[in-house]
Amino acid sequence: MKIFIDSTDIKEIRQAAAMGLADGVTTNPTLIAKAGVPLEATIRSIAEVVEGPVNAEVTSLDAKEIIAEGKGFAKWGANVHVKIPINEAGLIACRALSQEGIPTTLTLVFSAGQAILAARAGASWICPFVGRLDDVSYDGMHLIRSIAGIYANDVDSSTRILAASVRTPVHVIESALAGADAVTVPFGVIRKLMEHPLTDRGIRQFLEDAKRTG
Ligand code: E4P
Repeated sequence: MKIFIDSTDIKEIRQAAAMGLADGVTTNPTLIAKAGVPLEATIRSIAEVVEGPVNAEVTSLDAKEIIAEGKGFAKWGANVHVKIPINEAGLIACRALSQEGIPTTLTLVFSAGQAILAARAGASWICPFVGRLDDVSYDGMHLIRSIAGIYANDVDSSTRILAASVRTPVHVIESALAGADAVTVPFGVIRKLMEHPLTDRGIRQFLEDAKRTG
């Protein structure tokens, strides 16, 4: 399973890339607004650091406007993917952009039905939101398992699953077990996955023993 970084922070994206943990990047309007950074410059600089998909999300609601916005994003880098919320306008735009060879990610996917439609519209990736489903007392991981099963049966589709709205290390592990192609994670979750008290204790012990032997 590939690991994407869910961030607009070029410093932490570089850190993740140095560990081989930035197969791609996702951004969304909330992350861009929180960081207070300009979209185009941020996406362009991330696309220079990361070879894989760098997702920039559209904010238009009309299909023609989404297509125009997406075509503009595609000029920022060969690896820039157009991230589009899934609804009627989003599916129309996704199909049109896909037919022109522009890679797309359909986002805000909360049901297996939406995932079926996304595949037919030619989405390169879909983002099912695990954490936000957990927030409303639904098992987000159940959605990943369902979509993985459906896509495994769909020989015509090459749409891939990018588990999103990931909040914990367990979400990452469960996504891998459930058959997600990739998971997008905040850098803090990478740290939590990496760290273990027994690893720290073991390193301290080895260093103390090494000093004793000179
Ligand atoms: C990534 O593509 C999504 O926009 C992101 O993972 C959403 O995460 P959140 O539910 O924590 O805002």
